[in-house]
Amino acid sequence: MTPEIDVHLAPGWWRATLESEIRAGLTADRKAIPAKWLYDERGSQLFDEITRLDEYYPFRAEREILQEHSVAITAASTADTLVELGSGTSEKSRVLLDAMRRNGQLKRYVPFDVSEEMLRIAAVEIAEAYPGIEVHGIVGDFDRHIPDAPVRGRGMIAFLGSTIGNLEPGMRAPFIDDVVKALDRDGSFLVGTDLVKDVDRLWAAYNDAEGISAEFNLNILRMLNRELDANFDLDNFRHSAEWDAENEWIDIGLRSLADQRVRIGALDLTIDVAEGEEIHTEISAKFHLDGIADELAGAGLELVDQWTDRRGDFALTLARKP
Ligand code: AVJ
Repeated sequence: MTPEIDVHLAPGWWRATLESEIRAGLTADRKAIPAKWLYDERGSQLFDEITRLDEYYPFRAEREILQEHSVAITAASTADTLVELGSGTSEKSRVLLDAMRRNGQLKRYVPFDVSEEMLRIAAVEIAEAYPGIEVHGIVGDFDRHIPDAPVRGRGMIAFLGSTIGNLEPGMRAPFIDDVVKALDRDGSFLVGTDLVKDVDRLWAAYNDAEGISAEFNLNILRMLNRELDANFDLDNFRHSAEWDAENEWIDIGLRSLADQRVRIGALDLTIDVAEGEEIHTEISAKFHLDGIADELAGAGLELVDQWTDRRGDFALTLARKP
């Protein structure tokens, strides 16, 4: 079957959002650039390199859980439809789709991503690899379009990779509420979360010896130079990623090495950045098993089960809408 694709993003949405978010972020008291802008073409390639680093355990830990437990996870969900938020190339979805097919429960796949180009390619590839299933892609923004996702019936919404850790705790509850809105009764939510652990290992995952994490972070300034005609001097900023023990997150930003003035031409904006000042780019929150269950319960979901890798580094949590 040919995939059906709904595009919720108006032409020009991407550009307008970039301009308004960068203006708001760089004129705030605490300067910040939202983490989603880390993933331009080069940023996505660099993140891919990060997933292969010795120090970056979360990707491999989650893959281990998916490989070991996807038959049990999908059986426990009883879902006939898989929705993946941030489906990208649909590589992780395939592990769950294979398990659903093996269990004889697979009917539909709903990839949801902000990148229309990548989503169209992935949707066609999945439709070819899983003949007989319905593929219905959604091009949308997590902030607005999750409640409209065509989940219908027995759906499982998967949000993998600990991407939920990029959200400030105050933003997680409204996000989970949107997921709950998209589900029918007995629909379920599968969420991947990195867990609190030894600080040295947490730190090293965001400060690798090769400097790929630093490159990934600094690339956001390169993107602003290109897309918004800015003149950030990348040599005048240093990658910073530190464990915040109180909030239990890695706090990531770009620290200015000098007093400097930066022009963002396309916004007709000039900003001053002081030596030592940080432009915040990302948080990567880490979780506890019971904390995740509590947050999901707060949104009205009932815990079904949790799975971790053998080392206990990462968790997949499945919860059902009663
Ligand atoms: C894709 C958000 C899960 O927080 O570990 C990796 C992004 N940033 N190294 C993470 C990231 C720096 C990653 N997530």
